[in-house]
Amino acid sequence: MWLDLFKRLIVIYLLQDLSYLVRNITPTMHVYTNCSYILVLIYVLITITFAKSIKCPNNCKCPPKHSNNHEVVCTGRDLRYIPLFPENIHDVRMNGTNLTYIDEHSFDNLTKIILKKLYLNDNLISYIHPMSLAKLKFLAQLYISDETRLNVDVLKKVLSFSTKQKLKRLIFEQNSWCDLPIDMFSNFSSNKVMKVRMTGNTFADIKCFLFSPLTKLFELSLSNNRIENINIFGIPSTIRRLHLDNNMFQTIPDWCDHGKEDTSVVEYLKYLDLSYNNIGSILNTSFVCLPKLKKLVLNGNPIAGINNNIFVNNPFLYSVQLSKLGNNLKKIDDFAFNSSSLSSLNLQETNFHFDQDNFNPNTIFSFSTNLTFLYLENTYLPKTEIRMQQMFSSLIKLKVLSLSSGRLNFLPKNGFPYLKSLEILRLNANKFSSWNDGNAVFRNMTSLKKLHMANNFIRIIDETSFPLKVLNSLEELDLSRNPYACTCDQLWFTEWIKTTTVKLIKYPLFYTCRQPNELDNERLQKYAESKKECPPWNQLYTFAIVLSCTGFLLITMITLGMKCHTNIKNCIYLQRIKHKRREGYFELPEADDFEYHAFVVYCDADRKWVHQTFLPKIEQNEGIKLCIHHRNFEVGESITANINKYLEKSWKVVVILSNEFAKSEWCQWEVDVVQERRRRYGRDVFLLIMLKTIDSKHMTNQLRALLDSGPSLRYQTGVGEDLFWAAAIETLRKPLNHLPTALL
Ligand SMILES: *[C@@H]1O[C@H](CO)[C@@H](O)[C@H](O)[C@H]1NC(C)=O
Ligand SMILES: *[C@@H]1O[C@H](CO)[C@@H](O)[C@H](O)[C@H]1NC(C)=O
Ligand SMILES: *[C@@H]1O[C@H](CO)[C@@H](O)[C@H](O)[C@H]1NC(C)=O
Ligand SMILES: *[C@@H]1O[C@H](CO)[C@@H](O)[C@H](O)[C@H]1NC(C)=O
Ligand SMILES: *[C@@H]1O[C@H](CO)[C@@H](O)[C@H](O)[C@H]1NC(C)=O
Repeated sequence: MWLDLFKRLIVIYLLQDLSYLVRNITPTMHVYTNCSYILVLIYVLITITFAKSIKCPNNCKCPPKHSNNHEVVCTGRDLRYIPLFPENIHDVRMNGTNLTYIDEHSFDNLTKIILKKLYLNDNLISYIHPMSLAKLKFLAQLYISDETRLNVDVLKKVLSFSTKQKLKRLIFEQNSWCDLPIDMFSNFSSNKVMKVRMTGNTFADIKCFLFSPLTKLFELSLSNNRIENINIFGIPSTIRRLHLDNNMFQTIPDWCDHGKEDTSVVEYLKYLDLSYNNIGSILNTSFVCLPKLKKLVLNGNPIAGINNNIFVNNPFLYSVQLSKLGNNLKKIDDFAFNSSSLSSLNLQETNFHFDQDNFNPNTIFSFSTNLTFLYLENTYLPKTEIRMQQMFSSLIKLKVLSLSSGRLNFLPKNGFPYLKSLEILRLNANKFSSWNDGNAVFRNMTSLKKLHMANNFIRIIDETSFPLKVLNSLEELDLSRNPYACTCDQLWFTEWIKTTTVKLIKYPLFYTCRQPNELDNERLQKYAESKKECPPWNQLYTFAIVLSCTGFLLITMITLGMKCHTNIKNCIYLQRIKHKRREGYFELPEADDFEYHAFVVYCDADRKWVHQTFLPKIEQNEGIKLCIHHRNFEVGESITANINKYLEKSWKVVVILSNEFAKSEWCQWEVDVVQERRRRYGRDVFLLIMLKTIDSKHMTNQLRALLDSGPSLRYQTGVGEDLFWAAAIETLRKPLNHLPTALL
């Protein structure tokens, strides 16, 4: 730095001198030649001498001069000493060189730079002089790995004489040390070491007391050793992170100081990694004396069961990882995850049988009220909707739920009714093909952002698959690697793809058709963009609807027909009359030519109806004048004479038929008389009213002949009564349409 500055000053001076010279050539010529000449010489000398040292040594790779990287890497067995490095180097990495014997001067070249990090990896070092590190005043990180010839006791001496003003990290990995001397850090009375990593050695037994001089220790890693026993006592209480993974623990170490009323030895420990050990069981005392624990990693242990209330002593526990337990996990107690702080729980690849009775779906998460992330990939999920619902119903805070590879062959309709906060749902690599009611499955997931359903057996996506509100507020949707049917049933989906703003993950590459056969392996995208001749409405639906409508109509008609066939008959009767009237027949003697509009034939039993119902309706309401023998016949004359006389005076004839009528011989005689009339004027002369259906046993030949001669009206009360009267009146008013034979 100061050299650069010095050189620049010289240049500035020379330039000034030169400008002075130009302005004033002759007088100062000698001044320039004397003073400037010396300066130029110094400049050149400095440049030449220091240009040499900036060169990167052979076998080494230096970073560009002005980059932020200050690390040099030297490799090669032919490098047998530590060379001199450019001054911008702060980190030296000796990797696979041959340093064999490091004497007290071997590190001299390192004192010429500001060395902050020294990495010695696989340099065949068998000895390091105790005073080697003493002169490296800026050293903050010492990293020694794969130096299997280096005895730990030799290093211990080196460390004890090293300067510790800046030393923060000590990393000794894969050095095949099988033991750590108890006085490893004995000379560390005042130090700033925060991180110690001694992974990949073969320690079997560790007494943490040896770390006690490291009073600032924050993180200790003893991963990848063969530790079976660890005595935590004496570990600096400042410890926050402890890595004990990949060892041979069979039980969880004891964290309590039994001398001091079971207080914690590691009262600030936040992170504990015990993964890939040989821990077979977790007891409810396993995690006592870890009052500040936040994150616990227990992956890869052969844990067979999880007891009740194991985390109740860890009020800050945030995350628990219990994944990759092989096939060992067989039982989870009812209140195993009772923890009001637990936010993230990872049970993936445990192959746990949630489809069996080895847990209680109602309680498993009911006391994990803060659970936000739940990973259940590669387990056997419940086989029934109700168990799913029980399991997930208390997780109102859940944001991420992973159920991939859960052997699900259905999507539970009401399996997730309470997951209102859910943002990410992963259902990849299951076995479900369709779910009829997307609304029931997803409706309450109003916060959902990412939905992953790749690698299932989904054939068709249509408007019933997802509630539109949920679907359109998604950020991403993964439906890749499903066996799509490229048929008209897919029309909705292919159209949706074209217009949506939702990110369809891995589209179009991993969306292929599997059906029909001729489109096997075709891209769904290609099908989506092809011209499709799909009926706007599925023909099957049309067919079904027509069928059901017809069925409904038929049933209605039959019911109606059964209920009111009289009305129908009357209705047909009325229609026929109206129709004929429109045709306009030859009209003959009309009503005006007669005194009476109609002659009423009835038997005595029906007199009441005729007088109280028929007469008022026809005469009073309609003004049609009727001839009734009880009223109009002249007294004294014989009945037959009366009948003949008044029949002549009447235009039409009304016959009121009933069982009584059929039984009465007198009435039968009257029928004979009026039949004669029909022969003359045609059947339109008659209005036959069936007051009550005539039983077959009362049916006589004359009656049958009368009924066969023309249609009859049936009397009806209630619904259809108006129809009856309309038809009766219409018949009475109807002109005669056929030429009476007698007048021809
Ligand atoms: C220091 O480096 C120089 C040049 O790279 C080398 O010749 C010398 O041997 C080194 N000194 C030591 C003590 O290794
Ligand atoms: C390393 O250097 C020593 C001498 O310093 C030599 O005897 C040995 O053969 C060298 N090893 C290799 C692998 O080059
Ligand atoms: C859950 O843990 C709390 C302490 O955090 C305890 O009081 C409660 O009894 C436990 N619940 C059950 C059901 O065991
Ligand atoms: C629940 O989890 C959140 C983080 O998701 C955390 O901030 C909060 O403190 C937790 N609640 C309890 C009671 O521990
Ligand atoms: C889920 O949604 C349905 C319909 O939107 C609603 O009736 C029901 O109360 C919701 N369930 C919960 C737990 O909020």
